[in-house]
Amino acid sequence: MSEPTHPLVPQPCTLVIFGGSGDLARRKLIPAVYNLLLDGILPPNYAILGNGRTPLSDADFRQTAREAIAKYSRQKISEKVWPDFERRLFFVAGSLQDPKAYKALRQRLEQIETDLKLPGNRIFYLAIPPTSIADAVEGLRSAGLVQPPSSEGPFSRVIVEKPIGRDLDSARKINEAVSRVFDESQIFRIDHYLGKETVQNLLVLRFANSIFEPIWNYKFIDHVQITVAEAEGVGTRATYYEEAGALRDMVQNHILQLLCLVAMEPPHSLDADVVRNARMEVLRCLRLITGKDVEKYTVRAQYGPGKVKGADVPGYRREPGVKPDSTIETYVAIKLFVENWRWSGVPWYLRTGKGLAKRASEIAVFFKPIPQILFNANPEAPLDPNILVMKIQPEEGLTLRIICKVPGTKAKTNPVELHFLYGEAFAVPSPEAYERLLLDVMAGDASLFMRRDAVEASWAWITGILEGWDTFGTKWLPEYPVGSWGPVEANRLIESDGRAWRTL
Ligand code: BG6
Repeated sequence: MSEPTHPLVPQPCTLVIFGGSGDLARRKLIPAVYNLLLDGILPPNYAILGNGRTPLSDADFRQTAREAIAKYSRQKISEKVWPDFERRLFFVAGSLQDPKAYKALRQRLEQIETDLKLPGNRIFYLAIPPTSIADAVEGLRSAGLVQPPSSEGPFSRVIVEKPIGRDLDSARKINEAVSRVFDESQIFRIDHYLGKETVQNLLVLRFANSIFEPIWNYKFIDHVQITVAEAEGVGTRATYYEEAGALRDMVQNHILQLLCLVAMEPPHSLDADVVRNARMEVLRCLRLITGKDVEKYTVRAQYGPGKVKGADVPGYRREPGVKPDSTIETYVAIKLFVENWRWSGVPWYLRTGKGLAKRASEIAVFFKPIPQILFNANPEAPLDPNILVMKIQPEEGLTLRIICKVPGTKAKTNPVELHFLYGEAFAVPSPEAYERLLLDVMAGDASLFMRRDAVEASWAWITGILEGWDTFGTKWLPEYPVGSWGPVEANRLIESDGRAWRTL
């Protein structure tokens, strides 16, 4: 096993969570810190200070944390470790709009730092709606809670959760508000897909193996399919989703980042900005889809009623909190081009949706057909292409489809799949995305975070599509039955090119 060339060294710090009693804190953030502790990679000295409007005592917060960990953590509560973890959890109530709340926060923070002998390193996690971000960072600044960046002395870092805006304009406003208070080197914009083990493996696969890079281009690759399918509907998040939809919720961030990792040029080092420059370059090369082109290159749809495991399930418009005439898309498929030398003429097909047949995310690279001379001589029966599938979740691994001879006296061939599964190859379970990302912030490594220019470039591209959709109304909003693989229109998008979506 080879060791990392830049091992991460997380620093002792206090994690201040705005939205400390909210969903994200309970489901992801607190369990993530706890798992880092159990795995022995958390700095020895640390604290978590939750903040929120609900007045909770430290004891209440500790109890909430315990319940959250019992429910959502990948590792169970250890009674041996719990007492020390618990004594490092604190809560201070306060409204983000109230300047006095930040003074109270400061006092509490300083007290905790003194009591636990913490060096004053602070990470502010903004797990709050985007409309409150400007107030939060301004509050932190005026209470004197933000240190300028420096190589010596304690650090102040801020983690910004998605959604960062709902179009280019609003994203810029949020970025400006944060940049007035924090230097870019202190800002960590989360895209949790970048923290997934299988997503990080994309770079290792491409750049630590000699066999892929020579064929990773338009000469050998026919097309690429990226699928992020969810079986769940909108659940309890209708208020947010009604303002977002699948394009903003999944494509602007997660799927474009997956695309960047598959399409980017080899970075010359693993330094955060070198890697981020390489990803950014891909965003710059995306061919814009605007105006009437949205009709040709995009399909959006909404899930309607259907059957799941034999039971009737209502459609999106009947979900609690959704407008009965909502035109928000819960599914989107896009055909796009990365206009550079490497990807010249190679179509990329993206699809994502809620209420689909199953949860399955993968990137499938389809290689070009071989010359029709030997085993492929019959034009009526072309051989299946080689496909490299990078499975992101829930299965984690790789498959490579190759053509093999069927045993027997005839020269008969058949496709077979070579499999690699993380669970089988490695004894250790994959950490959750938030574990890795929080650790990176504690260590000051921003490689897996979104730089401002990348967020804005993604929004610029997405805003072109949004404006096209606005101009051409909702006449292309087909419905697909919940539990299906999406609308037939999405099949046409790819089938009109003589290709088909992979069956997952
Ligand atoms: C979030 C979206 O960013 O990602 C959700 O807001 C989506 O709508 C989720 O369900 C998917 O994340 P994961 O890690 O479960 O694939």
